[in-house]
Amino acid sequence: MNLPGSLQVAPASDLYDDLAHDLLRTATAAVRQRGVCHVALSGGSTPEPFYERLILDPRYRAIPWKQTHIWIVDERQVPVDHEKSNWRMIKHTLTDHLPVKSRQLHPMPVLTAEPAAAYIDELRAAFPPLAASRQSTPRFDFILLGMGDDAHTASLFPHSPALTETRWIATNEGPHVTPPPRVTMTFPLLNAAGDLAVLCVGGKKLPTLRRVAEQLAARGPDAAAMPITGIQPEDGRLTWYLDPAAAGREGEAPAEPGRAGSAGQ
Ligand code: 6PG
Repeated sequence: MNLPGSLQVAPASDLYDDLAHDLLRTATAAVRQRGVCHVALSGGSTPEPFYERLILDPRYRAIPWKQTHIWIVDERQVPVDHEKSNWRMIKHTLTDHLPVKSRQLHPMPVLTAEPAAAYIDELRAAFPPLAASRQSTPRFDFILLGMGDDAHTASLFPHSPALTETRWIATNEGPHVTPPPRVTMTFPLLNAAGDLAVLCVGGKKLPTLRRVAEQLAARGPDAAAMPITGIQPEDGRLTWYLDPAAAGREGEAPAEPGRAGSAGQ
């Protein structure tokens, strides 16, 4: 399957380790260089076992959580104790168990009057070097994305208003947005990241991944119809983490221990 960037294919359990090791490496380097790491996480169901792995496997205690800020890629406009709240899942599976202070945690203020503006203000305050540096957009060290059957990522749904938003955060709703209304990071913010990871597990993801690969090979990115094709890091890395079912490699002999895939496969 020809996807842009790098491809890691491994059984789900190994895949979570690959992803966790990559997060550990990126976070450690960020803290060494700047004393802080900024991570943005996705909701949905796919990353839940990955977050559990981060907590349960003692190897990942080495992630420098005390210097890490945790943000969220997108959120549904519901109270945080609502079953559809992404932050609720992230809090229960991950952040409640981490040695972090509340000032390091950044749920989206989705129920305030201007949630996008409020989250943008929070980003400006947490990325102070922005004003002083040549960078015009916050550069997340690591962003974890998922992908829906319609090729949406974050809450950037096909043919929805947020796709063309130039501010870092947008609200999103309309006929193509799965309710409830959403608040989402936009392409300019996502594509400024250092590491962009897309995690897809299960055969349900395969048809969409095939369509994405075909679209890119035949006609190039079309973010309006297939938003995930709008993920094009400016100068960061894009890595797809797929299990064999998502990659269409079920039944193939397992690859050598270590990595099962590489760029462009
Ligand atoms: C959300 C997500 C969204 C998600 C995909 C995949 O709020 O639902 O952030 O972009 O990653 O819809 O969802 P699953 O992991 O549940 O398949």
